[in-house]
Amino acid sequence: APFLRILGIETSCDETAAAVVARHDDGRGEILSDVVFSQLEEHSAYGGVVPEIAARAHVEAVDGLIDEALARANLSLSDIDAIAATSGPGLIGGLLVGLMTAKAMSLATGKPLYAINHLEGHALTARLTDGLSFPYLMLLVSGGHTQLILVKGVGEYERWGTTIDDALGEAFDKTAKLLGLPYPGGPAVEKAALSGNPDRFVLPRPLVGEARLDFSFSGLKTAVRQAATEIAPLSDQDVADICASFQKAISRTLKDRIGRGLARFKAEYGGVENPALVVAGGVAANQEIRRTLQALCTEHRFNFIAPPMNLCTDNASMIAWAGLERMAKDVSPDTLEVAPRSRW
Ligand code: KG4
Ligand code: ZN
Repeated sequence: APFLRILGIETSCDETAAAVVARHDDGRGEILSDVVFSQLEEHSAYGGVVPEIAARAHVEAVDGLIDEALARANLSLSDIDAIAATSGPGLIGGLLVGLMTAKAMSLATGKPLYAINHLEGHALTARLTDGLSFPYLMLLVSGGHTQLILVKGVGEYERWGTTIDDALGEAFDKTAKLLGLPYPGGPAVEKAALSGNPDRFVLPRPLVGEARLDFSFSGLKTAVRQAATEIAPLSDQDVADICASFQKAISRTLKDRIGRGLARFKAEYGGVENPALVVAGGVAANQEIRRTLQALCTEHRFNFIAPPMNLCTDNASMIAWAGLERMAKDVSPDTLEVAPRSRW
């Protein structure tokens, strides 16, 4: 074949997604189709993802999305070289739906199966979108994860930092809930912050100054609750001021934590010509956080790479691509014995 084509399936959280991605002989990736069904509406009334509702919604959506991904790529299943599905980490009900679907397709067609780690999908996306070469640093900031990862090669990752309590997106969501803003909280907090005074409340900047590269956000949420309780009832301006102060505290925290990560990368990989920081996850949509990271990268002479938003959030192209990277390296496919791993 002139190139490889693979079907990817992603069902680890509240997005059902399918995609067909090609890898050309020169290593370049190409997205042939990418479809996502967001379950936001199913969960918004509960202020968060309800695992059982998510699993059932995946069951209903996944077959149709796979058909649609193939149709949009103008391909039939027989044109596909392999099938990749997320097998963890994530909500077990959703993982089961996607992985079992992929296994059934693999069994029926004889095509190889790749069980992909969701975080690996995020980590390798910049090679699909920007042709980035190893090694590089990746900051994943979503509703479920906050991790700074050294990406050394396919299958070679070092976690340099992680959250010791809440994920960053979770901190946004909980803060929004406290302030009576809608779910998901990130976009609502960002919008409110636009008309707020970031200096009205001095909120904690957890772990700032510490040598290790971890994150902590639950104290920040507690401080927001205290500030809100003290001045209740809250006017719109109060809410805006709290949101702006919250984002400022997060920006300062990221500046310190990630700044240390960039310095460590330079110390350990001084020979790398074009060092890069890649950002991924839903929180990467936040303009203030983007500006902070961009400025930090400029200061440290790093390339700042932010893939298009639809590839920063959960999607199946990244899962397909991670499968293609393995195929290109001749990594053995997974067997039908492979089991989903919620906490992988
Ligand atoms: O990657 P993602 O879409 O889904 C998973 O976590 O799986 O991330 C969703 C998270 C939510 O916590 C949401 O509040 C946050 O990303 N988020 C934002 C913004 N847009 C989404 N956080 C801050 N600012 C935003 N503009
Ligand atoms: Zn994700």
